[in-house]
Amino acid sequence: MNVGAAVHTRRRGYRGWTGAVNTDYDPLDPATAAQPYDAYRALHSGGRVHYNPRRATWILHRLDDVRAALRDTDYVTSSQGVTRVRMAADLVVVTDGEQHSRLRKQVQPAFTKRALDSWHGIVDKLAAELIDTMIAHPGGDAVQQLTIPMPLRVIAAILGVPDTDVADFRRWSERSVQLIDFAPTPKGMVKVAKSMSGAIALRRYFLQQLGAGHLKGSDTVLGRLLEHNADGALTDDQLFFIAILLLIAGNETTTNLLGGMLDTLARDPELYNTIRTNPELIPMAIEEQLRYTTPIQNLYRYTCADYRVGTVTIPKGERVLLSFGAANRDPAAFDDPDTYRVDRNPRMHVAFGYGAHMCLGAPLARLEAHAVLRELVNRVSRISPAGPTHWSTNSSLRGPTHLPITLEAAQTTPS
Ligand code: HEM
Repeated sequence: MNVGAAVHTRRRGYRGWTGAVNTDYDPLDPATAAQPYDAYRALHSGGRVHYNPRRATWILHRLDDVRAALRDTDYVTSSQGVTRVRMAADLVVVTDGEQHSRLRKQVQPAFTKRALDSWHGIVDKLAAELIDTMIAHPGGDAVQQLTIPMPLRVIAAILGVPDTDVADFRRWSERSVQLIDFAPTPKGMVKVAKSMSGAIALRRYFLQQLGAGHLKGSDTVLGRLLEHNADGALTDDQLFFIAILLLIAGNETTTNLLGGMLDTLARDPELYNTIRTNPELIPMAIEEQLRYTTPIQNLYRYTCADYRVGTVTIPKGERVLLSFGAANRDPAAFDDPDTYRVDRNPRMHVAFGYGAHMCLGAPLARLEAHAVLRELVNRVSRISPAGPTHWSTNSSLRGPTHLPITLEAAQTTPS
């Protein structure tokens, strides 16, 4: 890695000296994506703004700078997409300004406090059921048995998908969300065709459900949105896009949080005991987990005007990587950032983003993680690894893809 030298050379896309530090840190490198922490330490020991010429990407990694960029949407915009590929769409995540406020207001009624309260029972019941399965299968893969099914079945339930349709729903949604991993290769095209067929099946399903009329007035997301849609401002297709958005935004992210948490607890029995004997630590433990394993490690933005960070000016029209993962391990913001400290209470973390696009599903994700951790401490005396954890190599979403563990049932609940 070369993070030391200031750049005086010509870059792709523009000319001239900018004061940024040249780096070969590459978020797309699978090995770096799986274990990015050495690279983050190197970024933090270098300058404030880095540039990867091969990827034509600027990198912000300090907590304050990432938060400022997330706030300064007049300069650093989401409206050209939040991934490496520029795109424009009438979707809440990839718009800014008035268009974004309008779209965010459409989704917000689904996530009121009342809505959340009404989902407690579903979430608690699922956590208990899935942990039963894990206790019954020592050494099983927690990803297959718990971290994937939990958010998927919660979203199915809050979208009003009955248990009888959950298997179909899972197949269609797993296919459709692959759309975001698009690669212009023959294999990529096959994946796109599959994901399109998944999306078409899901669309048919939701339009049928909406047509049947029983969702209106129900405690489901679509039920709530329909209630707020008395003037008919939302078409059935827009409601379907909201359902897809929630699937994409809420599944793998929560899977990564739950997987990161189980991995941390399995590898640190003392930490698990501390939480078990002091369950009031659970909310803080979840926040520290969000900081520590950051389920979305990074997203992109594009500059729509020259953007100044310290002494560096990122020119208009450039691609900027906001490293949430590095920001959450910024030594200037968090003491001893590579250590998980259960009582740290890292209120400034950016695992859910910050500013206008701050995650709408954060309370739901927290609810799920709390339910799982509460169920564990009440019923499980020990979480032990039963093999190595494999981590995803996706450049943005990071979490365990294989996590063999054993949950030992407690004979008594902790005092
Ligand atoms: C641990 C789990 C989750 C994490 C780490 C996470 C993270 C994030 C982050 C970082 C953003 C900001 C994106 C940006 O700035 O461009 C975001 C936005 C969003 N999230 Fe989440 N998310 C999680 C769970 C969920 C869930 C469960 C849902 C819904 C079911 C959800 C729905 C959304 C939506 C709709 C947005 C877009 C908000 C906007 O653009 O205004 N998320 N999430």
